[in-house]
Parts: sequence; C-alpha cells; structure tokens
Amino acid sequence: MTVNIPSLTEARKRTNNKVLIKKNAYQLTEQQKKIGLNKKYYLKTYGCQMNEHDSENMKAILNDMSFQETDNLEEADLIILNTCAIRENAHNKVFGLLGRVKHLKQTKDVLVGFGGCMAQEEVIIDEIIHKYKWIDFVFGTHNIVNLPNLIEKAYHNKKQEIEVFSCEGEVIENIPVKRDNKYKAWVNIMYGCDKFCTYCIVPYTRGKQRSRLPEDIISEVGDLIKDGYQEVTLLGQNVNAYGKDLDINYTMANLLEDVAKTGINRIRFVTSHPWDFNDDMIDIISKYDNIMPYIHLPIQSGSSRILKLMGRRYTKEEYLTLFKKLKEKIPNVAITTDIIVGFPGETEKDFQDTLDVVDICKYDSAFTFIFSPRVGTPASKMEDNVFLEEKEERLQRLNQLINQYSKENNDKYLNKIVPVLLEDYSSKKKDCLKGYTDTMKLVNVKADSRYLGKIVNVKITSVKTWSMDGEIVNCENYVKN
Ligand code: SAH
Ligand code: SF4
Ligand code: F3S
Repeated sequence: MTVNIPSLTEARKRTNNKVLIKKNAYQLTEQQKKIGLNKKYYLKTYGCQMNEHDSENMKAILNDMSFQETDNLEEADLIILNTCAIRENAHNKVFGLLGRVKHLKQTKDVLVGFGGCMAQEEVIIDEIIHKYKWIDFVFGTHNIVNLPNLIEKAYHNKKQEIEVFSCEGEVIENIPVKRDNKYKAWVNIMYGCDKFCTYCIVPYTRGKQRSRLPEDIISEVGDLIKDGYQEVTLLGQNVNAYGKDLDINYTMANLLEDVAKTGINRIRFVTSHPWDFNDDMIDIISKYDNIMPYIHLPIQSGSSRILKLMGRRYTKEEYLTLFKKLKEKIPNVAITTDIIVGFPGETEKDFQDTLDVVDICKYDSAFTFIFSPRVGTPASKMEDNVFLEEKEERLQRLNQLINQYSKENNDKYLNKIVPVLLEDYSSKKKDCLKGYTDTMKLVNVKADSRYLGKIVNVKITSVKTWSMDGEIVNCENYVKN
C-alpha cells in the first residue's frame, strides 16, 4: 500500500516560503490518454463552489483519459466522490453514498476514488484505511493534477493508493476544465485560507492563502469572453484578501477593475470576509456596471463576544458600519450572509444580538447552520453547555426571521423590470427558462430555448420567498449581450 497520510499539525503550518506557480504540471502519457476507453465515470460533488470547480477540473482530466461521464451510479466503471468536511452532516452524506457504492462493488468491477476536503482529514484517512479497505484510491485537494497517475496505479496495482499532501499548496496553472455551464463560469483567483476562524476546517484542508497572478486570471477571463461566456464568478475563500500574498502591490480592487475592463457582461465574487473589505473595493464596485450589485458578506454571529471567540476580527458595530456603507455607496445592492447558531457558550443574549443584526440588515437571504465541532479546530475544544434542542430552536427562530426579510426584499421587485441572464430550463415551471437577476434573485421566465444564454429585461409578475416569476419585455432590446 502506498500511503501518504495527511496531518492537521502539518496543515496548520504557515511559512513565508514563496508559493510555487507551476505552469506545466499537468501532462498525460499516451497510455493514460487511453485508460478510459469504453469506460464511464460517475462523479459526485459535495460542498462549496470551490469543490464544484475542482470537479470541473477532474471532469476535464477524465475526459482527456477517454472516460465518458454518466449520471447513473450503477453503470459506472469509475466512481469518484469529491467530498466536503465543513460540517458533520457533510460527512454523513458521503458515508451514506459509500454504503451504496460498497454494494455495487460487490456485484461488478468498479474502481472507486475518494477525494476533496474530507481526504485531508487524518481521522477520515484512518477510517478509510481500517474500515473502507475496498476504496481503491484517495487523493487530497492538492493532488488533483496527479489524478491520471493515481488512476493508472490503481488499475495496475489493485492496492489502496493514498496520496494526500498536507503541504501549504502550490498554484497549478494548466489544469484543464470542463465547465458545467455554457454561460457563466467559475474563475479561481486564489486558493486556501489563512484566517483560521476557530470553528473552521478549511485552512487545514485547503492550505495557505495563495493568489493566482493577475495576468493568468485576466487571460482566463479573456478566453471565456471569446467562448461566449456572459458571467464570471471570481472564487476564493476570502477574495477580499486577494493579492496580499503576492508582494506586487496589487489588490482585489485592482483585480476587479482589470476584470471589469475586459468587458465581460457580469462579474461576481465570493466570498467576502468583512475584515478585508476596503473603500477602494467599494468604489470600484459602484463605478463599473458590469460588477454585479450583489455581495455575500458572512457575519457568523451578531454578538461581539462570540465573534471574538470565533476569531473573526470584527465587532458587531464594525460589521454594521461596513454594511451601511455598502448599502449607501452601491445602488440597489443585495447583501446575503452566513450565520452559525449555537457556537460553544452562546447565550440567549448572544443569540438575541444575532437576531438584532438580522433586524437591522434585513438580508436578502442567508445560509444558517448549527455549529458543528470539527476535529483539530480550537472551537471543538471549547466548553459547550448549550443543548442541541436549544440550538435547533434558535435555528428555527432565526430562519423564520430570515425568510420574512427574504420575502419582504423580493416583494419590492413586483412589477419592476430587471435584467436576467437565462441560463437553463426551469426545473419548476413548464415552458420556462430560469436565470438570475444582477442581484442574484432566481427568476422563472416564460421563454423558449432561443433565449438561453441571453441577458434579457424581465418584468416580475409574481414573487415568493425563494424565487420569482416574470416575462420578457422589449424582446428586441436586450439590456446587454
Ligand atoms: N470563507 C467563507 C466561508 C466558507 S465555509 C467565509 O469566511 O465567509 C461556509 C460557511 O460554513 C461559513 O461561512 C460558516 O457559516 C459555515 N461553517 C464553517 N464551519 C462551520 C462549522 N464548524 N459549523 C457550522 N458551520 C460552519
Ligand atoms: Fe473558514 Fe474563516 Fe477561512 Fe472562511 S475565512 S474559510 S470561515 S477560516
Ligand atoms: Fe467543504 Fe472544503 Fe468547500 S470543507 S465548504 S468543500 S473548502
């Protein structure tokens, strides 16, 4: 067995070592290009946009190896799970699917690969080695480029291959990508995270913060424009800190401006940490029409006491000051957030502070979670005297309030005309396409396939908590195409 086990202690290390940017790391032998001939792969992705985008890289690699994709687990010759470690329920979902895969493996010859953030956790690898010996190969978030070698070895050796590096990470530039969407694209601008919020596993699973070079990002956006893409989302765990590790005096504000100047119709970015959101960025967002008025600004808690324990580096008041500035300076901006309830020691008073902030900010929407202790993080060792029932009850109260404001915000759109990028057939409504407004509201629009990939003016005819319905107006006069 080849074992390269991850270590959280190693993963925690941060040095000033220069990040290696590798431009030629991805290469396939002639042999590897044929491994997947007449074979199908099934790839299941869990977790955040970063994982989604990693899966787009894996798909292109598998494609280069001649595998064909299937969405039917039963007919797959190769099954890969791209996993997420952010909360316990993410783990549980993965182990649930593994149960089905094990059954399948008893009935047919199928190769099984396990990758993503869970693969970067010591406890999980331990479990895989001892309880899931039938998994053929395991790879970490830093090892995607090496997938062809791993698959080749797994086919030949028939032994469990584990290749997970706990390195700080590199920037690999030439990994191919097979995008799921023809009109909007994810573009990584940075990898990893150095914030080490006390509850979070990401800095351990993804390595240190490392920004891509501006010219590589701009050139990717240029290629996307040539391929007809309408929208890019600049991706990173903490995009506002972009460039800080590069030593070239180039910031997120500079990058946003340069991407805006490429002329791509729509630019979004996730996720913004409030700590690094500066005035230059706000100015650039309000200056360029093609930077969308939508900001995901996680608060996590409204209690300054809990925020301190979380290591978030801002107080309730500082967050609210930033929030107000964004609302004032960016016309029509929609702001969404993430909130954790039941952090260790959260009192009813702390929770009330969170509800207060929600009452002030009236978010367009929010992702809300119950705190989930992650092995190896400081918060998992903090004393927690709040019962799960209490946490669940708080979550319900919070969700009610969040939903109320989502609906109130959406109500303001009724009878308004807004630009929508129509990206796919609606799964909910017959004869409709679905798309998003500039402010990231989901709209089902009565339209046929001719409008796919177009940004159209839509009049909103009805409004719900999670979505809206609308119809195209001024068909011959699109907002921008
Ligand atoms: N980089 C982003 C967040 C990435 S994780 C940021 O800093 O905002 C997405 C969300 O998962 C977080 O915003 C947080 O709300 C939630 N989360 C992270 N770790 C968690 C944990 N241990 N328990 C519950 N929720 C968690
Ligand atoms: Fe996790 Fe905090 Fe980094 Fe976000 S900023 S990924 S919450 S450590
Ligand atoms: Fe999950 Fe890893 Fe993303 S832990 S949320 S897939 S960075």
